[in-house]
Order: sequence, then C-alpha cells, then structure tokens
Amino acid sequence: MKFIPVNVPLLEGNELKYLTECINTGWISSEGPFITEFEHKFSEYVGQKHGIAVSNGSAALDIAIKALEIGVGDEVIIPTFTIISPAQSIITAGATPVLVDSDLTTWNMDVNMVEAKITSRTKAILVVHIYGLPVEMEAIAKLAKKYDLKIIEDAAEMHGQTYKGKMCGSFGDISIFSFYPNKHITTGEGGMILTSNDEYAARSRKLRNLCFEPDGPRFVHHEIGWNYRMTNLQAALGLAQLEQIESFLIKKKHIGKFYNEKLSFLENKGFQLPLVSTSYAENIYWVFGLLAPSEEEKNRLVDILNRNKIATRPFFWCMHEQPVFEKKNLFSNEKYPNAEKMARNGFYLPSGLGIIDEDLTRIIEVIEDAY
Ligand SMILES: Cc1ncc(COP(=O)(O)O)c(C=O)c1O
Repeated sequence: MKFIPVNVPLLEGNELKYLTECINTGWISSEGPFITEFEHKFSEYVGQKHGIAVSNGSAALDIAIKALEIGVGDEVIIPTFTIISPAQSIITAGATPVLVDSDLTTWNMDVNMVEAKITSRTKAILVVHIYGLPVEMEAIAKLAKKYDLKIIEDAAEMHGQTYKGKMCGSFGDISIFSFYPNKHITTGEGGMILTSNDEYAARSRKLRNLCFEPDGPRFVHHEIGWNYRMTNLQAALGLAQLEQIESFLIKKKHIGKFYNEKLSFLENKGFQLPLVSTSYAENIYWVFGLLAPSEEEKNRLVDILNRNKIATRPFFWCMHEQPVFEKKNLFSNEKYPNAEKMARNGFYLPSGLGIIDEDLTRIIEVIEDAY
C-alpha cells in the first residue's frame, strides 16, 4: 500500500533551471539577483510597495513586530486558534498577545469579538487568515481606524487569495507570508515581509541583516537584529513557483472542490466541511480540513486513515492552552469554546499540490468505507 503524505510540493516549472543558474554563477548566498527579483515580483503581485525576503514566515513575524516598534507594555490582538509564531513573536518582543475566539463557520478570528479586547495598550491587530478563507478585513480596518491601531496581516497561508477582490497581504501596515513547502508557492524554507511604508521597509531590511548600519562603519551596531536572510537559491525557487501561481490556485481549488463534493455525506454524520465560499472570498484550500462531531470520532477516522497509510495533521492547538504559555502564567482561566472545539475535533487531509487524482480517490474510498 502506497503512503500518501499530507503534502507533496509541485516543482515542475523553471525551478531546476534557475537553481542551476545559481550554481553556475556562484550566487548562492543572500546576495544575488534572484532575491531582488523575487521581492519585486511578489510584492507587485500582492500590491505592496516593498518586499523583504527572509528565512521563514516566523522570522517575518519577528521582524514585523519589531519594525512597528511593539515592545514592553504593548498589547497585540491575535486569534487563539493559530500556529504559535504570531504569539511567540509578540512575547519575545516583550509585548502581550490578547486572544480572540474563532468564528465556527469560517474558522477565522471572530471579528465581532475584537473590539471588546481593545485597551489603551493595544498597538495592533494581528490577523491570521486560516486554512483558505480570509478574515473579514473590512471590520478589522474599521476598528484599526477607530482606535488608531496598526494592522499586521499574517497571510502565510493565503498566497493569491483575495478579500472582496483585493489581494490578501495588501491590507496590512505590515504583512507576512511563509514559503514553507506546504504553501501555494514554496522556497523550501522562506518568508517575506510586505509593506508600503518606506520606514517599516528600511527597518525590516536592517533587522533581517543583524542590524548592520546601511551607511555606518561595518561591524559597528546600534541595535540588535537577526540573521534572517533568504538565500539566492531559495529566491530562485520562489521565482519559478510564482510564475505558476495561477495554475496552482486552480489545482488547489480542484482538490478542495473534489473533497467537498465527495465527502458531503459526512455532513449527515455531524462533520463540518470547509466553506466553498463566503460573500467576500472563494476558498483557496491551503489545506482541506474536517471538523468531526467529537474528538473520539476524529481519532477514530484519523486512526483508520493512518492505518491505510494516509497521513493527516491535527488542527492548530489554541494559544491559551499551550503548556509553554501556562508556565508563563499567560491566559490563565481564559476560555474560547469555538477555538477549543476546532483544536480538539479538527484535522486535515492530504491536500498538497503534488497529490494525484488516484490518491484523492483512495482517500475518499477509505473514508467511505469507514462509514
Ligand atoms: C498562519 C501562519 N503563520 C506563520 C507561519 C510560520 O511560517 P514558517 O513555517 O515559514 O515559519 C505559518 C506556517 O505554516 C502559518 O501557517
């Protein structure tokens, strides 16, 4: 029986050609022509003035928080249902994440619950678009304007997605993307910060490069930064991938629609499938998630899939239930029932771009047999 992993990337365009060019020319570090070209083309695609390529999406978040000068005493609003990276960046900067529950229909942060969390210390709302559908950005923009807050947009999973026709990643004062291989376009490891603010862009470039002073004497530093640089090799991959993004979006939608159609019978068994669309966006299915009626039912189905050599991944685990944050006495006694339900009952099926129809059919058959 063939193993079906959760993700297989698709590397069938100019990837090898551009990588070969790196080897032949010797441009393999973070100096090199593909970096600037990738930054330029990706930021243009998203609709922000500047792109700053970095080593991964988590690094991009670290830089975004610091570029906005968020630090001790500041609060940043985030969803509790997310990967740990946003919370980690806020905490390591000395600031405090303030959590919001999820909307059970879209699996994104419930925008109606954000305003109640705003205090005099709130500096920014960090939205995280989850799994394939964007956050209700108009509501967020209104709050940001009313309370003079910055928007940080974590569009790591949202390559090519739009909200009311406008690109995700174009709404943030600073936005970030990840190019991990399970993303719509990949650089192996990689990320990018996007902004139209010249000052944030300059700060981000400096922070990514150990805070070398752009015009000062070399090796004399006035601030601490990181080495979060992307290599020319990674950017070569990214550029080749970006050339194919439209076909990738079509393929992902095909995968999502196929699953949605073939698995619709699960709704009668109490499962929730991803929404195909909302009034403001069509799902791009970064991953195809399923919300089981109970944790036991999830475990039963995951176990059957795994025994049939079909890999799955659990949904994110909430920030207020992370042992590492409990140890820091963060979020004590906080409860977010929708996010908790998603974390306990949710998992996703293999949905990478490299999946073939034969694998999709076998996955469906195994789930059909389970019921
Ligand atoms: C929403 C979100 N933000 C940030 C990240 C972190 O990106 P990276 O894995 O490139 O550090 C991810 C990774 O999957 C993510 O899904």
